[in-house]
Amino acid sequence: MKFTGAALCAAAALLPSASATIYYAGVAESSGEFGVWSATSTPGTGLPGRFGVDYSFISTSGIDVMVDQNKANLFRVAFLLERMCPLSYGLGAKFNETHFDYYKQAIDYITKTKKAYAILDPHNYMRYNDPSSQPFSGSVIGNTTDPKAATTAQFGAVWGELAKRFADNEKVIFGLMNEPHDMPSSLLLANLQAAVDGIRKSGAKNLIIAPGNSWTGGHSWTQGGSEASSNWLYKIVDPLNNTAIDIHEYLDQDYSGGHLACTQPAATNLAAVTAWLEEHNLKAFITEFGGSNTTNCTTMLSDMLDYMANNDVYIGWTAWAAGPFWGTASPCCTDSAQFGSLEPGSKAANGGPSLYDTVWLPVIQPKVPKQLQWSGPATVSGGKVGKKC
Ligand SMILES: *[C@@H]1O[C@H](CO)[C@@H](O)[C@H](O)[C@H]1NC(C)=O
Ligand SMILES: *[C@@H]1O[C@H](CO)[C@@H](O)[C@H](O)[C@H]1NC(C)=O
Ligand SMILES: *[C@@H]1O[C@H](CO)[C@@H](O)[C@H](O)[C@H]1NC(C)=O
Ligand SMILES: *[C@@H]1O[C@H](CO)[C@@H](O)[C@H](O)[C@H]1NC(C)=O
Ligand SMILES: *[C@@H]1O[C@H](CO)[C@@H](O)[C@H](O)[C@H]1NC(C)=O
Repeated sequence: MKFTGAALCAAAALLPSASATIYYAGVAESSGEFGVWSATSTPGTGLPGRFGVDYSFISTSGIDVMVDQNKANLFRVAFLLERMCPLSYGLGAKFNETHFDYYKQAIDYITKTKKAYAILDPHNYMRYNDPSSQPFSGSVIGNTTDPKAATTAQFGAVWGELAKRFADNEKVIFGLMNEPHDMPSSLLLANLQAAVDGIRKSGAKNLIIAPGNSWTGGHSWTQGGSEASSNWLYKIVDPLNNTAIDIHEYLDQDYSGGHLACTQPAATNLAAVTAWLEEHNLKAFITEFGGSNTTNCTTMLSDMLDYMANNDVYIGWTAWAAGPFWGTASPCCTDSAQFGSLEPGSKAANGGPSLYDTVWLPVIQPKVPKQLQWSGPATVSGGKVGKKC
């Protein structure tokens, strides 16, 4: 019998998956949150901003390279709540439809044109109304003693509306919030639960990923006494049991991703959160991690990718970060040196190779599993894995 390429792909898709499986792997797309930072902390800077000038979501040619050549199947796409829900509307179900349309075009390109998976990423640190000094500015959502703060119910409403709009797209994953920090964990849980309730009330069955407190750091998941994420995050109730945990983990001295040197091994630092995930029968994505192009980072990044691949609680990851607006700036791990980003085709400021050339291609790319999920709904239990056709 003569096999066509399509037939071979179909056959590969029927292979059963191993017990520890990464179903979704790719890169964070960061640029949608750009253009609002103000050296003088002037509220409203860069709002609403000019699409394609101050901010953007993806470069379609970059996504093409990542999917067609690199066989990556997951993209986490950042946006700002202050652009989706302008301050004059307030946080909630009323969107700036022009802005939403630009965002949806990016999500549709990834999920429909390229048939990969996309994580919606409100890049807001559980704050809303002043992104001018992110990650610290803006009122904490649900802070009842701050009269300017959006409410927990408003946060539920924004997610109910997003869910309604993406419910018919099983390849869209709802990342509830980027890096909550410096807030009571009880309030974090209340906000996350309001979002889950809003999503399920809308009828959407999509996979949800929920972050912890303290920048959703994996290494500190069980630290902080009664405030530790480990004391709260298992309490989220999802009637469909289709919610996973969203973890960030950097390998430098203070886990910030700011430094060139990698000194924090993932296997050691993730051991406690891994045990917690097992204890509560939860799965996780690591949606931010990274390292520089130093020898130590090469080893430690590679070890981290192996660690995720070998522990069955981890089902997906996105490295930080690609995106069309980084230019020669670096998203992480360079002590502010301009070594470029993970965006295909980007360059360092000295004209040398970018982190795409020195970190993605040699270190991360070999760890993109040969078989990933290419069809069907994203779920906590994954779908059938196979080679990209
Ligand atoms: C909505 O977004 C468009 C496109 O960025 C912008 O021109 C417009 O001013 C925005 N409207 C509000 C109310 O922010
Ligand atoms: C809540 O708002 C009050 C009043 O503005 C402020 O003092 C407090 O720090 C805020 N809490 C958080 C977690 O931001
Ligand atoms: C969700 O999990 C709970 C606890 O294991 C179980 O009782 C319930 O039937 C599950 N619901 C669905 C929809 O799978
Ligand atoms: C690299 O790691 C070795 C030990 O594994 C350490 O001695 C050395 O200082 C590290 N280099 C940097 C630049 O961090
Ligand atoms: C990392 O990349 C930059 C930019 O291309 C280059 O200048 C630097 O020498 C590289 N560092 C190492 C350790 O290879």
